[in-house]
Amino acid sequence: MVAEKAVQLLKPQTWVGVGTGSTVNFFIDAMAKSGLSIKGTVSSSQASTKRLQALGIRVLSSEEVPQLDVYVDGADEIDHHGFMIKGGGAALTREKIVAAQSKSFICIVDQSKWVTTLGAFPLPVEIIPMAAPKLIEQFKALGGQAHVRLKDGKPLLTDNQQHILDVKGLQITDPLAFESMVNQWPGVITVGVFAHQKASVCLIGGVDGVRTIEF
Ligand code: A5P
Repeated sequence: MVAEKAVQLLKPQTWVGVGTGSTVNFFIDAMAKSGLSIKGTVSSSQASTKRLQALGIRVLSSEEVPQLDVYVDGADEIDHHGFMIKGGGAALTREKIVAAQSKSFICIVDQSKWVTTLGAFPLPVEIIPMAAPKLIEQFKALGGQAHVRLKDGKPLLTDNQQHILDVKGLQITDPLAFESMVNQWPGVITVGVFAHQKASVCLIGGVDGVRTIEF
C-alpha cells in the first residue's frame, strides 16, 4: 500500500532516488507496473540496481545526476520528527549519499517502525574494519553493545567492501547531535541515524490503510 502510494506521489519526467530493502522492492515493482515515464533513477545498492534494471527502469550513477527530485526509501525506525534509523540492509552509506542529493525524501514503512525514541532497533554503523575495537569501546561508554555484523560466520561486506557494527541498547534522544558526534569518530564511514537527511514525508501502512505524515 505505501509503495503504491509513493508511486502516486511521483511526477512524470523527474529523477527518482531509490533506496534499498523489502519495502522498496515493492516500490520498484509498483513503479514499473505504473508505466509512469520518469527521466531515470539513481540507486542506493547493487540489489536495487539489479531489480530496477531487470524491470527495464533506467539507472544512472550519482555522479551523472547531480540533483534528484525525490528519494524513496524504507526505514528501520522513524520518529515523530522524521528522524530515522536505517541500514538494516547494510546499504546506509549509499542511501545517505543519494538522499542528500534529493530535494525530498519519502519514507515508506509499516506501523511497527513508527517510534517515539530511536534506538530499540540495533543501530547500524558502516566502519573501516581496523577501527572496530576502538569504536566498540566508544559505544560501550554510551551504554551500547556493538557487534560486527556477520554473514556465513564472517564479517558481512557492504557494497563498499567495509564492515557494519550493530549497536544495541542506545536511546537516541537527540538524533541531530548524535549523528554529528558519531560521524566524526575515526573509522566511522556512516552512522545509520538519518537526522540531517531526515524524511520530508512518511507514508505509514496499517490495518486502516496509509497515513501520510509531513515533517
Ligand atoms: C537498508 O540498508 C535499510 O536502510 C532499509 O531501508 C531498512 O532496513 C528498511 O528495510 P525493510 O524495508 O526491508 O524493512
